[in-house]
Order: sequence, then C-alpha cells, then structure tokens
Amino acid sequence: MSNSPFSAEQADELVQKDEQYVMRPWTHPAGEPVIVARAKGCVITDVHGKDYLDLTAGYFVNNAGHCHPRIVEAATQQLHQVLQVSGKHGTVAAVRLAERLVNLLPSSIDQAFFSTGGSEANEFALKMARQVTGKSDVAYLDNAYHGLTLGSLEVTASEKYRDSAGKPLGGETYAIPNAYCYRCPLGPDTCATQCLDGVDEKIAARPNTAAIIAEPIQSVGGLAPPEKWWARVDAIRKQRGLLLIIDEVQTGLGRTGKMFALEHYGLEPEIVSGGKGLSGGVGSLAMTCAGSGVIAKFFGGTTPTSGGNAVSAAAGLAMIETLLDEKLIDNARVMGEHFTQALWALRDPWIGDVRFTGLLGGAELVADRDTKEVLAKKAVAAIKDALHAEGMLITVSGLYGNVLRLQPPLTITAAQIDTFVVCLRNVLAAVRQSV
Ligand SMILES: Cc1ncc(COP(=O)(O)O)c(C=O)c1O
Repeated sequence: MSNSPFSAEQADELVQKDEQYVMRPWTHPAGEPVIVARAKGCVITDVHGKDYLDLTAGYFVNNAGHCHPRIVEAATQQLHQVLQVSGKHGTVAAVRLAERLVNLLPSSIDQAFFSTGGSEANEFALKMARQVTGKSDVAYLDNAYHGLTLGSLEVTASEKYRDSAGKPLGGETYAIPNAYCYRCPLGPDTCATQCLDGVDEKIAARPNTAAIIAEPIQSVGGLAPPEKWWARVDAIRKQRGLLLIIDEVQTGLGRTGKMFALEHYGLEPEIVSGGKGLSGGVGSLAMTCAGSGVIAKFFGGTTPTSGGNAVSAAAGLAMIETLLDEKLIDNARVMGEHFTQALWALRDPWIGDVRFTGLLGGAELVADRDTKEVLAKKAVAAIKDALHAEGMLITVSGLYGNVLRLQPPLTITAAQIDTFVVCLRNVLAAVRQSV
C-alpha cells in the first residue's frame, strides 16, 4: 500500500504542476526535484509514496530530525499565542531564544539580532563590520559560501555563484587561501600552514580592511582546516586589528559535534551569523550576534519585517533543547566517526578522501587515488542520480564538485548509515561498469 496521502493520478498532477508553475533556476540531475508529501526523522516521503533517507537534513536545517514532536508541539502552542509582531517589539519566544544563544556562544558575544535567512544574516554582519570600523574592505576564504544575495555573494568564492549577480563583484572584497589538506603537496608532517604565507602581506596591502568573514569549517567548500591554521589566521587578524565574522549558518546547532563549530578552534569572534536550523525548520530565522563593542556603534537601518518571528523562535528554542536533552550533539560526533570508518572500509578506488567533523562531511571522489585526479562530472552526476533512484538523497559539493556531501539529521542511527553505505558500494560499482 502506498505511503502517500495522494492517488497516483494526483501525484502525477502535482509533479506536472511543479514543472509548470515553480521556477527552479538551476540545473539538476534526472529525478530531482522530489515533491515531498511528509517527513519524519531521517526519512522523507514523496507524493508517490516513495521513501528517501534524507542525507541533506532538509538542506541542513532539521538537525533534530523532520517533524520532531517536541518542535511541532512548541510551534503549535506558539500558534495560539502570537504569530507576528513588529520586529521593533519583542516576543517571549524571541527573548528566550536570544538569551539561550548568547549563553551558548563565546563570551565575546552579548546580543542577538534576528533576521530571516543566512544570506541576510551575513549582510547584517558585513554592515556591522563596516559601520563599526569605518572601513569597507572584507577578506573571505577561498572556496567560501556565505549566500546568494548581492552582499553575501561579494564574499562567496565560487564563480558559479558569483556569476549569478549579473554585475561585477569584488571591488571591496578579496580572497585569502583556505587549507585544502587532502590536496596539499606538503603532507601533514611538513605542514607549517605554508598555505597562509603571504596572507599578512596581502591584508597589509589593503589597509581599508574591516574584517575577515569565514565559515569555521566549510560545507559547500568541503574543507575543515586544522587547528594550527585557524590559530595563525586568528593571530594575523588580531595583529591587524580586523574584526572576525564567523558564519555558523551551516555549522551551528550541533552539526559538527559541538553546539557551534567555532568551539573546535577556541575562536572568540566579534560577530557570529547563523540560520538554517535556528527556526527548528518552522519558517525561517537567522541571527547576527555581536559583542558590546560592535553593538554600541551599529545602526541596523530598521528591522527586517519577520526577523525573530515568534513561531520560528519557539520552534528553534525547542530544537536547541532537544539537541541537548537527547544528546544529539554527541550522536553527531559518534555517527560521524561511524560514517568515516564505514566509508573507508569500502576500500573503493573512487573514494579518495573521507572528511567528517561530527555529521558535517562527505567523501571526495577521484578517478585515481594516487594522482588524486578528480572524478569526471559525468560519473559524479551518475552516482548522484543512481543514489537518488535508490531512495538516498544527497548533495554534491567541493571546489571541484566531486564531494558527496553527507549531512543527515543528527538523529541518524548506525543501521541507517550502514544501509546507505551498502547502497553506495553497489552504486559506485555499477557506475564504474557503465562509464
Ligand atoms: C555557510 C552558509 N552561509 C550562508 C548561507 C545562506 O543561507 P540562506 O540560504 O538561508 O540564505 C548558507 C546556505 O547554505 C551557508 O551554508
């Protein structure tokens, strides 16, 4: 019996109407998009009743799993109290969430400013840094992703995304290198963060630099720098008097095995942005948090209409409490290790590297493990399509578009990971035969 609330005809019609009415200005592999009828835990079900293991966590939002009863309950209760007020006022839910966040963040952070999406949160972060310092330039990392709005694109590295701006970018922003350890010619034993040589000089040559913006660990970029890399960047920026903006939009709320990924490196930024799971998956909510030195000089302009929406805030707070009470952040760490071991155990000739920090991670695919030649786009697309057909939802990321990004809800079990890994083994073997 179908698991769908729709008949086959109704489901076909919905798919056809999606194609007709919904604008999707990106290319996607065959089989996408999935029109979702319902979702629970790590599984989403499409209108035809087909189940998928969601290794994207609803695009890295549903860290406590889809439709967690505690989040649904908190949002439902809030629906009966207040839905929306002017952002110039407050709601009980937003006050409680702000307090919780400030107490979870490092002591360099004193208050939270709410907006509605990760890109917007970064726009405010950039505004803050520029207003406070009176300087306009901002450095970002190679391979960075900070969003798709015009301001956030200025600090997003990939040409693929920057080209969508429809105008030249980069007059006031510039890139500095990130650590791509898997492809570094030096190897771990001789690493003295040589990839950062010249960065101090580059910043010195741009005396109008206000800040460095960075994800502590890159998800779209697929890179996790070693501690000594971050220690050197942090020292350089402090010496040069630059603000540090840490983008926790994707790494925050338990994903990496810590509440915030900056904890892995002991960073104390002046500004922290966040979003995605902050809404508990109900509506959209984002934050730009800052320390009192920044706040004293910041004028937002006015307030975003739906910033700090009460229902999203209540749901986000419930998600944070769920992560803590159900020890899901510990589970992220343990399951990240399980994923790593299970993927290496495949000994697949196409799996060149496996990189997980908690459940932020993936596998880099190569045509040749010795030369590290990037696996051809056609093969990567065939793998993604075949996984999709087998009911495994993943995304692809990385500088060369060859990293299978594996970031499920933090509730995932070892058995679910093992099911995926067996499926991946078969898919890799089948695609190898066919290309
Ligand atoms: C690190 C990072 N920053 C910012 C964003 C943009 O967030 P949004 O899509 O909510 O605007 C994303 C989205 O993937 C992200 O991963």
